[in-house]
Formats: sequence, structure tokens, C-alpha cells
Amino acid sequence: METLGKVLVIVPTYNERENLPAIVERLRSAVPEADLLIADDNSPDGTGKIADEFAAADDHIHVLHREGKQGLGAAYLAGFAWGLEQGYDVLVEIDADGSHQPEELPKLLRALAEGADLAIGSRWVPGGKVVNWPARREFLSRGANIYTRIMLGMHVRDATAGFRAYRAATLEKIGMADVESQGYCFQIDLTLRTARQGLRVAEVPITFVERTQGHSKMGRAIVTEALWRVTVWGVQGLPRRFRRTRP
Ligand code: GDD
Ligand code: MN
Repeated sequence: METLGKVLVIVPTYNERENLPAIVERLRSAVPEADLLIADDNSPDGTGKIADEFAAADDHIHVLHREGKQGLGAAYLAGFAWGLEQGYDVLVEIDADGSHQPEELPKLLRALAEGADLAIGSRWVPGGKVVNWPARREFLSRGANIYTRIMLGMHVRDATAGFRAYRAATLEKIGMADVESQGYCFQIDLTLRTARQGLRVAEVPITFVERTQGHSKMGRAIVTEALWRVTVWGVQGLPRRFRRTRP
């Protein structure tokens, strides 16, 4: 098993003041050697100020303040750019609301150390679980993943998952300059780019626990963007799939 080097955990936030303290404390104790970058979109509830207080008290914690709400994809792109420039070797994505458990992050890092280029914390592989999700949310996530698998021909079970670890080299190889996805389909976008480069994607079962504080930012616009883009990527990918399956 190889050593991974410097790890940066990126925590995107928009109105997460009730959730930020717990996720920061859990991350600092679950992966004490990792640094954190809180990417806040100028949350009206003052999350950015709380993040600054954490950063002032702990030199493992950094904050990226962005002008306004520009979507999860945009926040991660800015976070990745910062992390790559600072020379981190591994870049982790995790939600701020406690849905992704920091205590499970070592499993994802182990998958990278064992050779994966991208490790996904997956709800929809054997051993993966979801706690406290309403039926319509489970239906949406399962449906989105089935549609994604059919349209894109990827073998990933949870392509929309937001708990992941990328090698820096993976992000450099897939090229992020032309990523347009703004919402949660950013996750599908980067999964597809990784798979199309022939890189190794490992899915590690996790337990996703629905938030108990604050509100989800998932809305109709996010679903519409994902549906639209997956359809376009699917159609664009047809020639290459056709070539591959012809005798
Ligand atoms: N900076 C920033 N800007 N952060 C954002 C934005 C944004 O525009 N939108 C959402 N976030 C942050 C939230 O504050 C939270 O930390 C995280 O992104 C996830 O947002 P939620 O709104 O809690 O997402 P969810 O629980 O509905 O969705 C989960 O499932 C999706 C579908 O599987 C997440 O895990 C998503 O990543 C995943 O794609
Ligand atoms: Mn959530």
C-alpha cells in the first residue's frame, strides 16, 4: 500500500451554521493529519464568519470565501484549483451537513492507497445504506443513477455521490477547465471524465445519514440540469460506444 501524501478535505457550505462546528470537529479527529478547506458562498446565515473563527484557531483549517451562491460544482472547482496550487496530493469532497460521516473517510483513503484513482463513498453498492431519507428522495437518487448508467454506459452504482477522494493526478488528467456543470451533476460529470480516461474508480460502501439541521439545497433546477446534461453526454458518447461494441 502506498502512502498518499498531503490530504485536503473540501467542505462546501451554504447556510450551514448549525452543522459546520460538528463536521469540522469530527473531521479533525477522524483524519487529524488532513487539512480542511471550507468553501463558503457568502452564506447569509453567517457560516463564513464561523469558518473564519475555526481557521484562526487551527492552522489545519482554511477558508475560501466566494461572492455568492454559484452552485456546488463551482464551489468544488474553486476548491480543487486552490488545493492543486497548494500542492495537495489527495482532494476529498464531503457535505457539511453530517450526511457523510468523517469516520468513514479512512476507508475511502485506503481505497486510493490500494490503487484507485477515484474512491466514491457509495450508497447503492452492497453494504451501502441511507438513513432517514423520504421515499421520494431515494426514488430520485436511484432513478438518477439508473438513467445515468443506461445513458452513459458507466458501471458506477452511485455516480451522484458527494463523498469522494480524488488523487491530484486524477484531477489533473481529466482537465477541469471546460467543466460547465454547476449543480450536483458536477459529480456525474467528473465521474464520467474519470471513467473515460480509463482511470480506476472504486466504490466503497458508506452509510448516508440525512441531515437533522438546516435545509437541503436540492431543487428543481439542479434536477433539470442533471437530466439535461446526462442526456447530452449520453448522445455525444454514442459513437464511441457503438465503435466499442461492434464486432
Ligand atoms: N458553497 C456552496 N455553494 N455549497 C453548496 C451549494 C452552493 O451553491 N449548494 C449546496 N452546497 C453544500 C451544502 O451546504 C452541503 O454542505 C452540501 O453542499 C450538500 O448540499 P445538500 O443540499 O445537503 O445536498 P443533498 O443532501 O440534498 O444532496 C446530497 O445528495 C446529492 C445527490 O446524491 C449530496 O451528497 C450531493 O452531493 C449529492 O449529489
Ligand atoms: Mn444534505
